[in-house]
Order: sequence, then C-alpha cells, then structure tokens
Amino acid sequence: MTVNERRLKEMKEEGEEVAMSTAYDAAEAELLDRAGVDVLLVGDSVGNVRLGYDTTLPVSLEEVLAATAAVARGAEDALVVADMPFGSYGASMEQSVENAQRFLKEGADAVKLETPVGGEFTMEVVDRLTELGVPVMGHTGLTPQHVNRSGYEVKGGDEADALVETARRLDDAGVFSLVLEMVEEPVAARVADEVEAVTIGIGAGREVDGQVLVVDDLLGVSEDVPSFVKQYADLRAVISEAVEEYVDEVKDGEFPSDEHVFSG
Ligand code: KIV
Repeated sequence: MTVNERRLKEMKEEGEEVAMSTAYDAAEAELLDRAGVDVLLVGDSVGNVRLGYDTTLPVSLEEVLAATAAVARGAEDALVVADMPFGSYGASMEQSVENAQRFLKEGADAVKLETPVGGEFTMEVVDRLTELGVPVMGHTGLTPQHVNRSGYEVKGGDEADALVETARRLDDAGVFSLVLEMVEEPVAARVADEVEAVTIGIGAGREVDGQVLVVDDLLGVSEDVPSFVKQYADLRAVISEAVEEYVDEVKDGEFPSDEHVFSG
C-alpha cells in the first residue's frame, strides 16, 4: 500500500507503528521498500556512513539531491523524505524555500530539517514551506547539524520542558511528522501525547509512533553503533568473508571455472 501523509496519520490513529530507515541509493531503496519499510529517509547521515566525512556538516545539497533522485527511482510504496543538509537552509527564507522545492522536483515526497531545542528560524521556514505545499518532517532532540554547539548528548533533564515546547511549536507550524533523536523515553512520551504529528524515535524509547534507524547500523555494516541500535544482521562479516573468498579464488585461478566462461 502506498504510504503518504494521510496513511501515516491513519497509522498513528490506529496504533500501527511506523517503520522508517535511511536509504542512499536506488538498489537499496528497492530492497527496503519491498521488505515493508514505510518511510525511506535520504539522511544527511550519508556523509558519515557512506561518504567518509566525520560529521554531517560537509554534506552538500548536490550529494543529497542525487541520492534522493536515486532513492525515489527505487522506491515504490514507501514515502521518500529528503534530509536538507547543513547550509542548504537557514541563510534566508528564499534560499530555504528554493532548496526545499528542489528536493520535491527530484522525487522526494517531503523534506526534513533540524530544529535545535529553542530554535526559532526553522519554525518560520516550516510554516512557509507547508503553506507552499512542501510537506515537512521536523527533527528535534539531538540535532547532529548542531554538533559544534550541543555535542551528541541525550536530551531531557533540565531541557525537557523546552524540548516539549519546541515540538509543540513545530506541530503548530505544520510538520506532518517529527523525528525525536536521543531523547529520554518519558520526555518523548510527553511529546507524542501532545502533538498531532506522527512521532518517530531514534534512541527515544517506545512511547512514540514509530522508529527510524540508519540502515548501515541495523544491517551491521557500521563498525561502531550507539547503544540504542539493534543490529538485525552482521553484513560486515558476510561481506568480508565473501570478498576474501573471491580474492583467494582469483589468486588461486579457481575463478572463473568452466561454468563462468564463454567457450565459443
Ligand atoms: O540523517 C539521518 O540519518 C537522520 C536520522 C538519524 C533520523 O537524520
């Protein structure tokens, strides 16, 4: 069944959990979509997990646009959300709107942008985008694009009320869904209770409307994963073993064998 904004709202109302993961290319999107993932996020995490950057800050607009177009080509039923990278929004309203619209032209169904706890400007951007017909997924709690200011700390504690207020304001500004990253479970539960948006947690516990994981983390491709990640496979081991065997067979002259050659 095609997943759109309306379907996600229905899932929230009916208590059906939303399963979301990142995706970075067409082949991967096809696999994840066929396996039943509801929402594919073309995350700016592509920077850390695929492009070799240390943070998401160097990721360019063009890098996420190209990945978005590829994911949109591979996805059939899943909703495709493009993550607006650092620097692609926030310089002005004009720049933010133009870049968000480019993602929709490349095949995204929605964009996601980060709002740090207490953030102001992105509220106005979300408001404008939704008025112009660009569906927006919000993202608050830990916001990796603000790593230089706030690091990678779990959110809650003294900041709990401010976080809930930020979520409420994003809801009022029109986000259809809201990612909560690394938020204490009771605080995430308060947000899920108070907002109409479909709340998706990553390290935010069980009381939200769905979960998102970085695909390389859930499949066991990443070497180190945060404690909130469950690894459903050990692809790193599978890939290493397969490639080592291939290299050995090439070196030993075992591959290609009779069945792999055109004898003429
Ligand atoms: O870029 C990304 O992968 C994300 C998720 C962590 C939500 O924003």
